[in-house]
Amino acid sequence: MSATLSLDDFKGALGSWASGVTIVTTELNGLVYGITVSSFSSLSVDPVLVLVSLADTNHLPRMIRESGRFAISILSAGQENVSKYFATSGREPAPAFDPSIPTETWLTGCPLIPGAIAQIDCELHQALPGGDHTIVIGRVVGARFDPERSPLIYFRRAYRSLAEG
Ligand SMILES: Cc1cc2nc3c(=O)[nH]c(=O)nc-3n(C[C@H](O)[C@H](O)[C@H](O)COP(=O)(O)O)c2cc1C
Repeated sequence: MSATLSLDDFKGALGSWASGVTIVTTELNGLVYGITVSSFSSLSVDPVLVLVSLADTNHLPRMIRESGRFAISILSAGQENVSKYFATSGREPAPAFDPSIPTETWLTGCPLIPGAIAQIDCELHQALPGGDHTIVIGRVVGARFDPERSPLIYFRRAYRSLAEG
């Protein structure tokens, strides 16, 4: 930080950014791992690229570098329990997630969350250093969405839903 910037102000300002909530996963040698991620963004149309920013304290950036692929599920309203599960510490890469969190696979074999508002399968395009995070850029190999669902929203450390109108 600096004399003019406190960590509280930094976090408060960034928490003012209302975002969707995604689950980013990969699969490597029969082991799965995934975390809750809000730092998702579209990046490019030609080529078709998206990005997420992943803390280097997590297993995920290293696993994605090795597996060369990952999946993104954009959560629907009502999937807070899924977000909370994947935001919990201490889940080592394991043969499967908790049975209460069902998953499915599509093109890359990485776990996707059923009932998500959108699912995106990616091959790793580039992994770039970004401070204490890794900026993981994916080339989208498949994307599908459910126009009938509403998104889960995260704002000021609380889960919200869209107020239509
Ligand atoms: C709504 C929400 C958004 C998050 N977004 C990110 C993110 O963009 N990148 C990231 O590395 N971690 C993010 N996290 C934290 C990870 O989910 C969390 O660090 C991970 O599950 C492992 O927990 P641990 O870091 O306490 O071990 C987010 C958590 C929540 C609840």
